[in-house]
Amino acid sequence: MTRAPSRHTGAARVARGGLLLAGLAAGCGDPIRYSDAEIARHTMLAGAPGGFLLGVATSAHQIEGGNHNDWTEWEPGRYADGSPHVKGGATTARGPDSWNLWPKDVEAVRALGANVYRLGIEWSRLEPTEGAWDADAAARYRAMLTALVETRPHAIAPMLNLYHFTLPPWVVARGGWEWEGAPAAFAAFAARAAEAFGDRVDLWCTINEPNVYVTKGFLSAEWPPGVHDPARALRVFARLLHAHGLAAAAIRARDRVDADGDGLPARIGIAHNVIVFDAASASPLDALVAHVADRFYNAALPDALAGGHIHLALPRVAAIDEPAPELAGSLDWLGLNYYTRRTVRARLDRTGAGAPYELVPDPSRAHTDLGWEVYPEGLYRVLVRFARYGWPVIVTENGVADRAGDMRPGFIRAHVYALDRARAAGVDVRGYVYWSLIDNFEWSHGYDGRFGLYTIDFAGDPTLARRPTPAVATFRQLARNVGLLDAAGSAAP
Ligand code: FCB
Repeated sequence: MTRAPSRHTGAARVARGGLLLAGLAAGCGDPIRYSDAEIARHTMLAGAPGGFLLGVATSAHQIEGGNHNDWTEWEPGRYADGSPHVKGGATTARGPDSWNLWPKDVEAVRALGANVYRLGIEWSRLEPTEGAWDADAAARYRAMLTALVETRPHAIAPMLNLYHFTLPPWVVARGGWEWEGAPAAFAAFAARAAEAFGDRVDLWCTINEPNVYVTKGFLSAEWPPGVHDPARALRVFARLLHAHGLAAAAIRARDRVDADGDGLPARIGIAHNVIVFDAASASPLDALVAHVADRFYNAALPDALAGGHIHLALPRVAAIDEPAPELAGSLDWLGLNYYTRRTVRARLDRTGAGAPYELVPDPSRAHTDLGWEVYPEGLYRVLVRFARYGWPVIVTENGVADRAGDMRPGFIRAHVYALDRARAAGVDVRGYVYWSLIDNFEWSHGYDGRFGLYTIDFAGDPTLARRPTPAVATFRQLARNVGLLDAAGSAAP
């Protein structure tokens, strides 16, 4: 079905998340639907602005191997019913072993023609006990960052992520993010990182996906600390927001070196996971549930950052309303991690556990290996909606679990098409970062969620070679279109 321009407006209005509008959208089918033909005709990223960031992402714990943090304590554990915390009992004892094999990762990023690599540093390695600083670990991260910025003919800008779901054991011992001192402790870590790496790094990402951390760790109990408690969930969400604000201030105070020569020593963002919630029917109850999920999951974080005030609510269950003046002005850009949509039907038979809705999958849409609906139009909706806050936006994650590797090229093309539609509609999108560079530890799914542009045979290949999937060619086409690779496929200066 060809998309009619007027329907874009409708989609954007629905994406604002209003109850009434969500209701209007329900039952009307998709407000936008791209056709394969229009995606195939399109030249991806044509006319992207100079300096557009094109790259790939990983996180420290998912690729390094050999860490010691709350996840490594959680991984070998089991639930009360005997089922393992992680599918197949998988652990990160070695994983992709990027702690040792990082030069292969840098080489893979270079071969893609990327100009940005979103990577993490692991708090538990750098500060293994409170106030300590591991000089060897810092030196190794520094070597990685140096290799990235010294890549020729064009540098790969590191986008350095400071917190991506894992905590040092000493923080856990004090109560993790429920510890009142956790935001200040995190800010102290951020300050040291800014001092140690600021001459290599300008793009800082404070925290990855507070909403995902809280949902998995404190509502669904799938991740450590394995809690199901809405009031604690909101408290931790608020702590993470305060932590972001304090860390942003610390980075601005300590990173005084302009690493990339654009006149700015630090450009600070946060990576926010966004799921499109659509109501499964015209029933007001479905619309209500979609709306409540949207407010909590999607809107609360940017509202708090824009207004300097935290308002979190799980209606009739728990709420937090408190000022957070340190959040106002803390962001230079908003990172959006977009993967999928959920079409939801209210669950009336609630027992109090689990989500207040069930999913109603759209059979006309493809689903990934993890069962997530492929919904590229959602990226358009999300970009148009979140650009209204006024920050430049960067897609800091977008990707597909696809072990066979045959969905990924089309997935990337369709999502970049959506991004280009958003740019054409006036959205200030500054970058597209694919998750992930390599196959890695996909949290409770273990090694079952294969997101890598490069695949790794964890069981059969002791060298853990990073082997290109077909989507490497797709990504390199993007790099050619923005002038990072020349027509022959070599890196362009
Ligand atoms: C995101 C996480 C990332 C990875 C991808 C698939 O929510 O930030 O670590 O798990 O999903």
